[in-house]
This record gives sequence, structure tokens and C-alpha cells, in this order.
Amino acid sequence: MCGIVGFTGKQSAAPILLDGLKKLEYRGYDSAGIAVMDGNTISVSKVRGRIANLCEKTGDGASVPGSTGIGHTRWATHGAPTEENAHPHLSNDGRFAVVHNGIIENYMALREELIRDGYRFQSETDTEVIVHLIEMYYRGNVRDALIKTANRLRGSYALGVICSEEPGRIYAVREASPLILGIGMEENFFASDVTALVNHTRNVVYLEDGEFAELSGDEIRIFDCTGREINKKASRISWDVQAAEKGGYDHFMLKEIMEQPAAVKAAIAPRIKNGKIDFDELGGLVSELPEIRKIVITACGSAYYAGCAGKYALERLCRIPVETQLASELRYSDPLIDGSTLLIVISQSGETADTIAAMKECKSRGARTLAVVNVVGSSIASLADYTVYTWAGPEIAVATTKGYTTQISVLYMLALFFAERLGRLGEDAGGLIGQLQALPRRIQQAIDMNPSIPALAMKYHESRALFFIGRNTDYAVALEGALKMKEISYLHAEAYAAGELKHGTIALIEEHQPVIALCCNPSVMEKTLSNIVEVKSRGAEVLALTFRNNHKILSAADDLLFIPDADALFSAVIEIVPLQLLAYYVAKANGCDIDKPKNLAKSVTVE
Ligand code: AGP
Repeated sequence: MCGIVGFTGKQSAAPILLDGLKKLEYRGYDSAGIAVMDGNTISVSKVRGRIANLCEKTGDGASVPGSTGIGHTRWATHGAPTEENAHPHLSNDGRFAVVHNGIIENYMALREELIRDGYRFQSETDTEVIVHLIEMYYRGNVRDALIKTANRLRGSYALGVICSEEPGRIYAVREASPLILGIGMEENFFASDVTALVNHTRNVVYLEDGEFAELSGDEIRIFDCTGREINKKASRISWDVQAAEKGGYDHFMLKEIMEQPAAVKAAIAPRIKNGKIDFDELGGLVSELPEIRKIVITACGSAYYAGCAGKYALERLCRIPVETQLASELRYSDPLIDGSTLLIVISQSGETADTIAAMKECKSRGARTLAVVNVVGSSIASLADYTVYTWAGPEIAVATTKGYTTQISVLYMLALFFAERLGRLGEDAGGLIGQLQALPRRIQQAIDMNPSIPALAMKYHESRALFFIGRNTDYAVALEGALKMKEISYLHAEAYAAGELKHGTIALIEEHQPVIALCCNPSVMEKTLSNIVEVKSRGAEVLALTFRNNHKILSAADDLLFIPDADALFSAVIEIVPLQLLAYYVAKANGCDIDKPKNLAKSVTVE
């Protein structure tokens, strides 16, 4: 959580920092601040709430002179979202300012030690120990002070530091939190995410754990944790500035929903060669496949639900048992995992703390690890034995949409790829690949064939609770449909396996209770139809998601959402689209802050 930026060059720093923070606001949005250096003077501006408040306070940066600075947008962990707890934090002597993304686990002990040594604390944050440690260790050399400070810290941190003794210089330190350097012309940058850099440069360097950088307008120097200077190759960001803009849509979420046909195509098309699935990045894994006895999929939130949806295709096609486990549970479960396990880790951001911890736990037990990740150069991508990128492009809305559908698309392709390499793919391989290739078109159809969604949203937006039901692949999609609804519209929404209704949940059904029934899997359709009839006879209003020609469901339901005909094995990525749109329009009708729902942040980098 939290986003940090840094700039040094000839231009005025504050407007550049504010612009960068706006791009990172999805990472946290409860308070914000900048520290700008003008000559040897550091001035700090902080606010509660959004970056817009900081822009207002500083006249869009005009009231803060100086061409070197650091900035922060916060998702509070230690201490309430107040101005005092907002970053940057200053050292007692006013010489250093620090911004931090991450958590310092041993901050209590360090805080007590520093207080004993006479340091005064202004905030309740874990971060403040860092700036006092830097002051304590500073003997005229910032680099040495940073190394000594980093050696005392346990936890995760991406740090930005300025020192009034060194005008024109910014420092960036990385340990288990993302940090990227941007290389400009006579100006240089750092940021938690490339979205904050693309307005200025496409040339970036991904810092790795234990590395730190010293940036001035003319040069970037990078060091390892011992202070030894190292050379790192720059990478080029391939997507353009518009990819991180709203492009005429009211919200990033709506834009990202509409981008799904293209995003899924980008995930699938380059990996189909001569009528076969090919993953260049998995060359080494192919020879190990016969040793795999079990696949475990781990992730959090929607990424976990993507795993739940993908599991069906992997099991059906590869005939290997697949378990799905929440990363937050797996990490503490003493898992039965060894060298015969393939761990598939799914993450849009590649920075989710629980997912990283679960992955490390399973790696230490000998599992081979395959990461399905969107953000290039992220921690999970670097930690995995094998990484498959989803190529969804930047996803800004906190509620994932194209991130989720591209993750499932990659799982479908992995299922086909593994099955083919294991010799377990039947004669219909061509037909299955054809189904995959049709997904982008069918997602577009699912968008086009549901013009009634805004009107349906007006019918349901004041409901006290919404129940999503489905079986098999439909149940997996129901889980994500309910999460989408609750996280952006704040309606209570819960998914139930339809067959479980009679085991308790049906007690909640009363007159006019909305039930959203997913009926897209022919193998269980009749069963779900029975559940629809049962809830309807107890007064429920049923909104069914199904095919246009599915007459039995059409006549049983009160309202309808449609998907085009598709093989149920691969239909999750189509089914979810009308449910994303429904959640979007319900949230809009409720006046919610759709791209930045309350209490959430895009990447959950703390436990
Ligand atoms: C989904 O809309 C959420 N924002 C959340 O559940 C998310 O999917 C989860 O935190 C996992 O994030 P990741 O994919 O970046 O690891």
C-alpha cells in the first residue's frame, strides 16, 4: 500500500511530484505529502485525504519552490490518517525527509531505543524510526547512514530520502516493496509504479531487494546493500501514456472493463503458434511436468477467484489434482507440499504480501513455482522459478477487471499447454484452441448484448443484500461477481454454491430478496434451475445470467443478463463481464467512489 515518488532535475519539483502522486493514488488515498528542497531548505506540505487537497494547499505546487523532492500517498497502517502521520517525516535536526511504502516490523523496539537516546517523535507511524536512524548514523555521508539504517530495519520498505546537505540529490532504497527508477534528460525520477513515470520517460531501471540508488539530475548510481556500486540494465516501458489515462470514460473501472476484449487477446494471441499453445517462458518446466503430482494455486481476493475458475480447465484437461488455497491461509497451514508440487501463484500487482509469503513458504518446501503476474519486474515475478505475464496493461481501478480475466485466460492456456505436452489432450485440441481464440470476440458480445444493465442497477441498487448462486464453473464466477459488487457498491453481496442453499442459506430468502443466478454451465443447468424455482417460491426476485436461447431459465427468472454461447470450460471470462458492469452501475447509482473504494488499496503489500 502507499505510493512514493521522487524527482531531481531543473524543473520545479512540486508539480511533477503531485502529478506522480495522482497516478499512484490508487495505492492509498487517506493522506498525502511532499518535501521539496530549495537550496539547503526542505519544506514539507501535508494534508489529510486526497491528492486534490494537497494540490489545493500548494496551489498545484506553485507555492513550493525547488527542483528536488519526494512525495507520498498513504494507506494508513500505523496511526490514523492524520496530517501528523502523513509522510514525509522529518528528522529532529530538519536535515532529512523520508517517505516510505511498506511496514517496519521491529519499529516498536527501535522507537523505544531512539526515545531513550533523546529523539522526539511527531507521529504514530512505524516510518518515523527510519528518519531518526538516518540522523543518528549520519556522519557526513548519506550513503553510509542509509546502509547502517537499512541493517537495523526488519520488514518491507521502499524509501525515498532527501538531505538538506545535498541539494539536487534524492535517494531510493528498496527491500520487499516495489521501486522503479526513471531515466530522463537532465532529470531523474523514482516511483512505486511505472504509471507515475510514463509522462516523463519510458526508460526505467527496476531496483531489486537490498539495492539502493543515488539520483541527481545528471546521473543515477546504484549500490548493493554493502555499498558496492553495481551496473543494472535499463528497460523500456512498452505501453503509452494513454494506457494510464481514463480516455473519456467516467472511471478507470469502466475503461478497464471495456478494454477486456483487447487485454484477453493480448494475453492469448501471441502464445498461439501454428495452431498450438506455446509458452517460450516455460521451456524449462516442460521436462519437469511428468514429475508433477499436484498443482496448488494460491493468491488473494480476485486473483484467488481467478484460480478457482481456472482450476476446472486444469483438472479436466491435464488430469492432475488442483487445489486452490488462499495465500493468507496457506502461509500458516504447514502445507503438504514438496518437489512434486507445482505452485501457481496469481497476482495482478505482483506485490501482495500474503501471496509472496505463501510462495516463499512453498518454495522452501521444494515446490516449483510458476507466477501468473501482470506487473513486469514485480516481486512475485522475480521470485518465481517461471513467470508468465498476463499483459493486461496498467490496471488503475482498485477493483480488478481485466487483471482477473487475463489471469483466467492464462490459466486456460496453461491447461491446454500442459495437457498437450503431457500427451493428454484428446482429438479436439483444435476445437479447444478455437474456443480460446474466440474469447475476445465473445467478451465484446457480452458487453454489447446487455444494454439493460444500467436500468437493472436502478432496480437493485437499494437492496440490503444480494445473493449470487451457481454451481461448478458458475460458482467460481459467482464468488468474483459478489466481491465486485461489495467492494465498489458497499452492498452486502455473498456467493453460495447453489447446492448449499438448502443447508442453511435458504433461511435468509424472503419476499423480494434479490438472487443473482449464474446458469451458464449446461452440465449443472437443470440443478441450478431447481434452486431458482426454490428461491422464487419463497419470494426471491431472480436475476439470471444465461444464454439467449435458454428458454427454461428465461421463463423462470424475473430479469435477465446474457452471454453468447460458449464452452463452459472457458466461459468464466465471459460470464463475469455483465456482473462487472452490474456492480459498476449499482455503485454509480449509489454515488460511490468507484475507482477508489473506501478502506481499500490496489496492492496489499502488508499482511
Ligand atoms: C479485487 O478487485 C481486489 N482489488 C483484490 O481482491 C485483489 O484482487 C487482491 O488484493 C489481489 O491482488 P493482486 O492480484 O495484486 O495480488
